[in-house]
Amino acid sequence: MEVDKKDEREAESSEQVVNPWEVSAKDGGKIDYDKLIDKFGCQRLDESLIDRVQRLTSRQPHVFLRRSVFFAHRDFNEILDAYERGDKFYLYTGRGPSSEALHLGHLIPFMFTKYLQEAFKVPLVIQLTDDEKSIWKNLSVEESQRLARENAKDIIACGFDVTKTFIFSDFDYVGGAFYKNMVKVGKCVTLNKAMGIFGFSGEDPIAKLSFPPVQAVPSFPSSFPHLFPGKDNLRCLIPCAIDQDPYFRMTRDVAPRLGYSKPALIESTFFPALQGENGKMSASDPNSAIYVTDSAKDIKNKINRYAFSGGQDSIEKHRELGANLEVDIPVKYLSFFLEDDTELEHIKKEYGEGRMLTGEVKKRLTEVLTEIVERHRRARAAVTDEMVDAFMAVRPLPSMFE
Ligand code: TRP
Repeated sequence: MEVDKKDEREAESSEQVVNPWEVSAKDGGKIDYDKLIDKFGCQRLDESLIDRVQRLTSRQPHVFLRRSVFFAHRDFNEILDAYERGDKFYLYTGRGPSSEALHLGHLIPFMFTKYLQEAFKVPLVIQLTDDEKSIWKNLSVEESQRLARENAKDIIACGFDVTKTFIFSDFDYVGGAFYKNMVKVGKCVTLNKAMGIFGFSGEDPIAKLSFPPVQAVPSFPSSFPHLFPGKDNLRCLIPCAIDQDPYFRMTRDVAPRLGYSKPALIESTFFPALQGENGKMSASDPNSAIYVTDSAKDIKNKINRYAFSGGQDSIEKHRELGANLEVDIPVKYLSFFLEDDTELEHIKKEYGEGRMLTGEVKKRLTEVLTEIVERHRRARAAVTDEMVDAFMAVRPLPSMFE
């Protein structure tokens, strides 16, 4: 009996695990994103959808679309169909405020959401799940609330339009129509089902069980009566990393039973750690990530010391064989953050064929990331408490569809 259980656990741990709390690849390899699409039952974001985005918004699709950082979706095509007919939608994304300093991986969904907001001219709600992090990270309620407000400044620094954006903390906002929807959702999900989706066990505090409806209901416009009165049919599009999919599988499952539309999703891969691509960056190891608070010197040192290189051991061998771009972190990072397609292709070719050395690629990456981090730091320093209050005020958004 005991032995069976142990075998089962070992069989599990040699598989890749992707859920809101854990991301790990099989046997220390790379995350298999194709397998995830199959397992979760989402759709691949293909070239024809990206072309459609370009046509509908009359602008070049974001780098994260062109380079398949956002690679999977659920019903995104339906959102575009409706948009083409003149029906708008709203965006919903969020952050669990578990740490003060954000790393570059944390900024990705927000950079992308800002682009979507601008390109489609639609309103946006951003949920700060201070409750979630208090429960899972064992932070005090007060500390989670403080972190939520600090993180709000980083989010605002990404450039969101205050006339179209509502940011809320769960501890402050849950109640009223939002809470009614939570109870409606909770009534549709059995304990067995929640254990299946989220892996809850008998040892978990019951606060965990009550959380999934909190993350689910911002998908329904009726949870925001000050924003969307009489617009119960407005569709919702959620940009997020694919580890959040379980919450929204549950949400989409219950929506029709409540008479609501299912939220659509557009989902990203993870931003890999400096040490290599077998999971996402870890907040507990400061050398695994570039933080938005890192100095130019920190960035240079981290890239030079820790960024996993696909280059060969000796210059002679490198000139002969070229770099292995599949495992090379500097190239991977450049593919997220170097906007110029031509330059990226040039680097890949020269480096892959051994004419460019790791040091040169790392130098270019250092420049690109330093510029992004410094720009972010300046923008964040300009965010005042009054601005945070303005984004978080429960108010109508008069020009949200213009
Ligand atoms: N659970 C997410 C986290 O830990 C935060 C979150 C809440 C979120 N709602 C969301 C993320 C919607 C993406 C989309 O970071």
